[in-house]
Amino acid sequence: MIRKVRIAPSILAADFAKIAEQIAAAEAGGADMFHLDTMDGSFVPNISWGPKIVADLRKLTKLPFDAHLMIVEPERYVDRFIEAGCQYVTFHYEATPHAHRLLTHLRSAGVKPGIAINPQTPVAMLQDIIQEADLVLVMSVNPGFGGQPFIEHALAKLVEARELIDACNPECELEIDGGIGSSNIERACEAGATILVAGSSVFEAPDPAKAVRSLRERISSRSSR
Ligand code: DX5
Ligand code: ZN
Repeated sequence: MIRKVRIAPSILAADFAKIAEQIAAAEAGGADMFHLDTMDGSFVPNISWGPKIVADLRKLTKLPFDAHLMIVEPERYVDRFIEAGCQYVTFHYEATPHAHRLLTHLRSAGVKPGIAINPQTPVAMLQDIIQEADLVLVMSVNPGFGGQPFIEHALAKLVEARELIDACNPECELEIDGGIGSSNIERACEAGATILVAGSSVFEAPDPAKAVRSLRERISSRSSR
């Protein structure tokens, strides 16, 4: 089946000493949006950046920002990421007992609400909240670091999430994040993903523009833009 599929380079893997150049290169290669990983050193064993950096990066591109919040108590911070100019704001199912409340809050605040699940969390946990989400993010690595190997079981979870989305909320995006590159991007697409996050496979390549272009070519027969 041909679906609209977007490539979202994750700037976690970018060189922040030349971030403007790196963003421009990914955009020139055909990136559709940017994936921004916020880590708090508590939900995950790593620290990245908060809303101030996101607001600064906002000046560098007009492409949509897809914030992936790997933080505890996401309800305390989401509004600041909205103010910083994010179009998608995704938090973790495992990070709050009030996922339904937070999804509805995000939607009423005018952004696309997203919910992410770690590798150990079954897709079925989303059954009762899927209608409140505009994006489901299936983690294909344990969150916290770029450059980790792809967990193959994530493909089966994508298939399951695709079924749930088609049945309950067909407009919802299905995103996969972690270890995506030339060896698995077609399979992720076939399994039903509509947003493909790629960090190290883009920014650790010698030419990020070319890397995005070649990922796009790999899925061009299975997807539209
Ligand atoms: C991991 C992050 C990912 C990461 C992906 O916790 O959520 O977005 O940047 O990087 P790669 O594509 O290198 O696995
Ligand atoms: Zn991410």
